[in-house]
Amino acid sequence: MKLAKMYSFFKADIDHIENELEHSIQSDSTLLNEASLHLLQAGGKRIRPVFVLLGAKFGDYDIEKVKNVAIALELIHMASLVHDDVIDDAELRRGQPTIKAQWDNRVAMYTGDYIFARSLDYMTKIPSIEAHQILSKTIVEVCVGEIAQIQDKYRYDQHLRNYLRRIKRKTALLIAVSCQLGAIAAGAPPEIHRRLYRFGYNVGMSFQITDDILDFTATEKELGKPAGDDLKQGNVTLPTLYAMEQKEIKSIILQVHEHMDDLEFNQVLHKIKSTDSIERSHQLSQLYLRKALKELEDLPKIKARKTLRDMALFIGKRKY
Ligand code: IPE
Ligand code: IPE
Ligand code: MG
Ligand code: MG
Ligand code: MG
Repeated sequence: MKLAKMYSFFKADIDHIENELEHSIQSDSTLLNEASLHLLQAGGKRIRPVFVLLGAKFGDYDIEKVKNVAIALELIHMASLVHDDVIDDAELRRGQPTIKAQWDNRVAMYTGDYIFARSLDYMTKIPSIEAHQILSKTIVEVCVGEIAQIQDKYRYDQHLRNYLRRIKRKTALLIAVSCQLGAIAAGAPPEIHRRLYRFGYNVGMSFQITDDILDFTATEKELGKPAGDDLKQGNVTLPTLYAMEQKEIKSIILQVHEHMDDLEFNQVLHKIKSTDSIERSHQLSQLYLRKALKELEDLPKIKARKTLRDMALFIGKRKY
């Protein structure tokens, strides 16, 4: 199912959030406005705010309350993208030049911080200490995950566990708490918001594994962001880990460096893709997805449960 079709279930609320998002990044600084709006208007799937709204459907759904959490989560995600593009030295995001490319790293640093501060503004409208604690812990974990990735660059001897821990921190937890915080803000009982968290965690793991597969298999045009850079920059992701189980491939991978010429690099990419590493990665992604779907079984049978299922299935098949 297409994203737009899934979102049609509460289109008016999504449109409302889109408008507020534009409003949320207005400030006295023309530069901060331009840079933030540039990223916002480039689009994006908006899966985190949608998960917030769907989570809230399991409680006492009030869009005026829950919209604050939805906006906060998309803004935190956006801030992390702005910073991620600095550390990954990426030129393209959502089909547009990144903030670091259009302006520079200094502007990106403060635009990221600025968008992040805006998110706090929205979260403070939620009177739940638990929600604030959950979110601040998650943001700490995202930082730890992104820093771990910098430290683990070109470390080809790392264990699968290490990779899984890193993607949990940098991606899965934010998706987990998107589902959970929507429910908390709507006053859903703990057994429900904890289950939604577990659903989101498993969806998030599947999501990042797919992202890492797409970095090998998709094109820049399809993704709206660079492809192939993970390997080139020494970010050891799941397809690489699996491919390195073959000694011959491992020795080729060990020679990869950032300034390798395209021809040579494409040969390495080709070698990796000729193994079963992409298929095995896909299988692990699907395993997480099945765990996510299992969590849904014991949730109340409301329409949002079906939409969560559709979202998970979309994430399992996504091509961008
Ligand atoms: C990109 O997230 C960063 C990852 C966690 C892989 P999305 O794929 O959700 O990015 P947008 O918001 O749709 O651009
Ligand atoms: C995303 O990881 C993690 C965060 C944004 C925190 P990636 O570096 O793989 O994301 P993309 O591929 O640039 O979207
Ligand atoms: Mg990146
Ligand atoms: Mg990154
Ligand atoms: Mg990626």
